[in-house]
Amino acid sequence: MSKFIIIGTSGIGGALARQLQTQGKQLHLISRKQTPLADELGASFAIADVQDKAALDAAIVAAGPAVDGLAYCAGTINLKPVHRLTDADAIRDFEVNALGAFRAVQAALPLFKASAEKTASIVLFSTVAVQQGFAAHASVAMAKGAVEGLTRSLAAELAPKIRVNAIAPSLTRTPLAQGFTQNEATAAALAGMHPLQRLGEADDVASLAAFLLGAESGWITGQVIGVDGGRSSLRTKG
Ligand SMILES: NC(=O)c1ccc[n+]([C@@H]2O[C@H](COP(=O)([O-])OP(=O)(O)OC[C@H]3O[C@@H](n4cnc5c(N)ncnc54)[C@H](OP(=O)(O)O)[C@@H]3O)[C@@H](O)[C@H]2O)c1
Repeated sequence: MSKFIIIGTSGIGGALARQLQTQGKQLHLISRKQTPLADELGASFAIADVQDKAALDAAIVAAGPAVDGLAYCAGTINLKPVHRLTDADAIRDFEVNALGAFRAVQAALPLFKASAEKTASIVLFSTVAVQQGFAAHASVAMAKGAVEGLTRSLAAELAPKIRVNAIAPSLTRTPLAQGFTQNEATAAALAGMHPLQRLGEADDVASLAAFLLGAESGWITGQVIGVDGGRSSLRTKG
C-alpha cells in the first residue's frame, strides 16, 4: 500500500490527508503540534518545527523505512509593505516555505529509494503571487519564487524515478488565510477579483495535490500549476 508524508496538516494539508485516506493510502503526518487528525485517519504522526532541521529530519525518518511521496504544505502569508519588512521576516518566510521544503526532500530521499517501485512524487507549494506581482507580497513572493526554482531543479535532478511539481494557489479559505477571509465583505471583494468569482477551498487545492502524488499524473514533472480561479492569467474585462 502506498505511503505518503504530509508536512503541515491544518488547511490544505489536512484536506489532502483526508482525501488520501479515503483512497486507502497510508499517511505519516508532521506538524508543529499534536493534531487529532492523526488518530482520526489512523496515520502515524511526528512533531517538528520545519525551522529546526534536526527535528524535521527525525520526523521524516520516523515515516520509514519506505515512502512513495511527500507533500510539503507548511507555509506563511506575511504581507507587509516593503519598508516594514525586516530581515527576520524574510528569513522566517524563506525557512518555512523554501528551506524547509529543501530539507524535507533531502531527508526523505532514502525513504523514496526504499519504496517498492523505487519511485516517488513530491508536491511543493508556491503562490499566485510569484507569477503575478502583488503589493505587500515581497517577502513571501521571494520565498515562493525559490520554491519554484527548487521544484524545477529537483525535477531535473531526480528524474526519472522521482517526480517533483508545485501548486500555486490564489487565496484559499484555510486557517493561514483567515485574516483575509473571515470578514465576509472583504472576502466577497477578494473573490470578485477572480475570474471564477469565488475564493478557493482547501479541497480545491488538495485535489490537485492528491492527483500529483498519484500514479495518474505519472507523466507530469517539473510543473508549477495554478489553482487560482483564473487569477494568475485571465482578464475578464478590458
Ligand atoms: N491559503 C492560501 O490562501 C494560500 C495561498 C497561496 C499559497 N498557499 C500555500 O499553500 C500551502 C498550504 O497552506 P494552507 O493555506 O493550507 O495553510 P495552513 O495549513 O492553514 O497553515 C500553514 C501550515 O503550515 C504550518 N507551519 C507554519 N509554520 C511552520 C513551521 N515553522 N513548522 C512546521 N509547520 C509550520 C502550520 O502549522 P500549525 O498548524 O502548527 O500552525 C500549518 O499547518 C502553504 O505553503 C501556503 O503558503 C496558501
